[in-house]
Amino acid sequence: MTHVHLPGVRELISEEQIRARVSALAARIDEDYADAEEILLLGVLRGSYIFIADLSRALSIERRVDFIALSSYDRDEQRAGVRLIMDARVPIEGRHVLVVEDILDTGGTLSYLLDLLAARRPASLRSCVLVRKPEQKKRVSADYIGFDIPDEWVVGYGLDYDNRFRALPFIGTVNPDALD
Ligand code: IMP
Ligand code: MG
Repeated sequence: MTHVHLPGVRELISEEQIRARVSALAARIDEDYADAEEILLLGVLRGSYIFIADLSRALSIERRVDFIALSSYDRDEQRAGVRLIMDARVPIEGRHVLVVEDILDTGGTLSYLLDLLAARRPASLRSCVLVRKPEQKKRVSADYIGFDIPDEWVVGYGLDYDNRFRALPFIGTVNPDALD
């Protein structure tokens, strides 16, 4: 069911499904961190901006929100292509850090980031990803996963194709040949 007709984009996960899943994830996170005084949600720009906006509002525990930006990766170089381009402002040391990322694809981005953050001695370090592609359950896993999806390029709810489609309310697959 597609309520926004866009040539080249097919709905995969609806707005309603996303809303329900975000609430469920938030409930689990609330429970898991019940003993923590506060957590730091660390969003990876730009793909996680809508997810972290919804997730942060669905939580009940005390939370701060901050962002980190990484260079877009190079598929051939994978992890070697990841670079930090904007650091967090809130110090990581001693905090319960929950990294919020859009996609777990090769895992290169997340493993780079987790190594980088672990070196700063957080009280705890976990990760939450909106979607995970199938092949990629090996390198690094996330503690919280929204949806497992097929190995296709997805857009919407923060995710882009060439910087387009981030603001779509649903997650859809994109067929580059059919785009305007
Ligand atoms: P990884 O390092 O291979 O896990 O790549 C993850 C990053 O690649 C994500 O943070 C996204 O920014 C980007 N990415 C991978 N697959 C997609 C996709 O299907 N749509 C949009 N971005 C993607
Ligand atoms: Mg990303």
